[in-house]
Amino acid sequence: MPTQQSATIEARLSEQKSFPPPKSFVEQANMKDPGIYERFENFPDGFVEYAELLDWDERWDKVLDASDPPFYQWFVGGKLNVSKNCIDRHLDTRGDKVALLWEGEDGEVQKITYRDLYKRVNEFAAGLRALGVKEGDIVTMHMPMVPELPIAMLACARIGAPHSVVFGGFSAKALATRIDDAGSRFLVTIDGYYRRGELLDHKSKADEALSMADQEVEKVIVCTRHGGLREGTTLVQGRDVLLSDLVAEHEGETVEPVPRDAEDILFIMYTSGTTGSPKGAQHRTGGYLAYVTGTSKYVLDIKPDDTYWCNADIGWITGHSYIVYGPLALGTTSVMYEGAPDFPHKDRIWAIAEKYDVDIYHTSPTAVRMFMKWGREYPDKHDFHFRHMTTVGEPIQPMAWMWYYEVIGHKEAVIVDTWWQTETGGHLISNLPAIQDMRPGHAGKPLPGIGAKLLDDNGEEVGAGASKAGNLVITRPWPGMLQTLYNDDDRFIKEYWETFSDTRSKDWHDWVYRAGDGAFVSKDGYFRILGRLDDVMNVAGHRLGTMELESAVAQVEEVAEAAVAGRHDAQKGTVPDVYVILREGVDPSDAVRGKIVRAVEEEIGKFARPANVLFVDDLPKTRSGKIMRRLLENISNDEKLGDTTTLRDPSVPERIREQVGGT
Ligand code: WTA
Repeated sequence: MPTQQSATIEARLSEQKSFPPPKSFVEQANMKDPGIYERFENFPDGFVEYAELLDWDERWDKVLDASDPPFYQWFVGGKLNVSKNCIDRHLDTRGDKVALLWEGEDGEVQKITYRDLYKRVNEFAAGLRALGVKEGDIVTMHMPMVPELPIAMLACARIGAPHSVVFGGFSAKALATRIDDAGSRFLVTIDGYYRRGELLDHKSKADEALSMADQEVEKVIVCTRHGGLREGTTLVQGRDVLLSDLVAEHEGETVEPVPRDAEDILFIMYTSGTTGSPKGAQHRTGGYLAYVTGTSKYVLDIKPDDTYWCNADIGWITGHSYIVYGPLALGTTSVMYEGAPDFPHKDRIWAIAEKYDVDIYHTSPTAVRMFMKWGREYPDKHDFHFRHMTTVGEPIQPMAWMWYYEVIGHKEAVIVDTWWQTETGGHLISNLPAIQDMRPGHAGKPLPGIGAKLLDDNGEEVGAGASKAGNLVITRPWPGMLQTLYNDDDRFIKEYWETFSDTRSKDWHDWVYRAGDGAFVSKDGYFRILGRLDDVMNVAGHRLGTMELESAVAQVEEVAEAAVAGRHDAQKGTVPDVYVILREGVDPSDAVRGKIVRAVEEEIGKFARPANVLFVDDLPKTRSGKIMRRLLENISNDEKLGDTTTLRDPSVPERIREQVGGT
């Protein structure tokens, strides 16, 4: 979306009223001192306040080494272990408190106390070691929402093996690509998981992935959803190891947490970018844990006695930072739910909230829109009282915000909209809920220590209160930021820094991080995020690259050329429309359409399935041959066409519109 167009949209949005946080919230909030902003202006030392929330084996010598931008180092010389910070240090004070409260879709419940977690993580870690996993080896995990996933992550962290968690909904092919990129010799998977009452097969995706990967995977740890192996699941001799066997062999063993350098890799997480291949955002140990712990405490207002539920998937960054690491570092109870929100009834979420007396509920605007569509009768049936409700992943429309506030929060809870990215590790723009008023549709202000502003396409600042939108950029390093893209420093610079930085400079002030989002800032400094400006789509809060989708579609032999455009969807925010030119002699048919949809499911996963496959004779291209997806977006959304003067043939978009019948 070009910034001018975004500005027009913005101009149409009426000024939103602000809502003060309820007094009852403010009184008990972790952070109510507005002075925190000033403290963090003492850059970079302000961030020490977050680092001091952790237990360090060795204190750092230097808060920030910015001598080689954009390769920053945080808490240089410090040593710590993440597993120790998330588990061991809580044993004396709250060993019997539930750390992970897991509910399976089938109703099975596990209440894993910090002491249980200690035992399970230690045994898992001992097993990993016995299988040959060494400090620095990357362990890939392809798992649904089961307790073994965070347990495996913490076990890796304990022995200093970085993890690469691949969202369970990704296909075998997508998993293979990520295993190859990470050069990972170890995989953790599971036999199956429940979705809408059915125990689905999961393990065969791992088998298929390993048959496609170039990388040789030596050991596959297979977890089981029930006591025994799911019927139909097979093990490969010598390669596959049942977790139950492994744990039995290491029953009661403990593993000393390895002191890791603050700059050692904690994990990589693949995300979509503007080219076809996914990129591995590489996160450090010390700065990352400090940042997610600090923001969990001050933005999410998590306290050790809370029951906190982030209803996201651990396979995405939200789950890493705000289901596992931040909440557990603070010693709270983190809820996990395995299954579908409407199984067996549309009130499942509210039943869970009531049953466990959840205090903080964290979800996506897509989910809020879905709940709103289902209606208030479902939440109204249940007695739950949130004091804090977080949203993440997409802009929340003021109408959905109001519904969430009134129907789910009973006007008693704060709503905290958090803007951030896989790359940023933690929240960057959000309210500190006891300090600022809430404003529907606005993510809020840059958090303490964070420098955020808007630049136009020429790099000139777009000021607060300007009637135009701009590119959202971050002007200072922060501890949660990615270190680089795994094995690809050049792409790291190209994707995030090159556009607005003086890349020859050694002064960090000359380096500016481009987030890829368009935004607008109100006179009083509230950021309203408009969405991606690059070829990345946000489908139901999941990030998808249009290039990834297009290359999946191009695999179909009947396809000559394809382009993807985002269509606004009342529920999912955006859904992908695929415009396809077929090869000479091939006629449009449902069979070809089916092949295209399957190709996307196989290359990426079912969650990326196109909403529409539209057969066309031509695509709008510039004279240099670049496809103008923006015009396809206009067509998909039944909008007036944008500027067509740079097209080789300006009549193409109207012809497409006729051809697809205004769909
Ligand atoms: C979008 C998810 C509006 C944005 C944590 C960003 C948001 C992308 C918000 C990152 C928000 C995230 N309001 N848009 N509060 N939060 N986004 O990497 O486009 O999966 O660039 O990280 O989601 O998606 P990612």
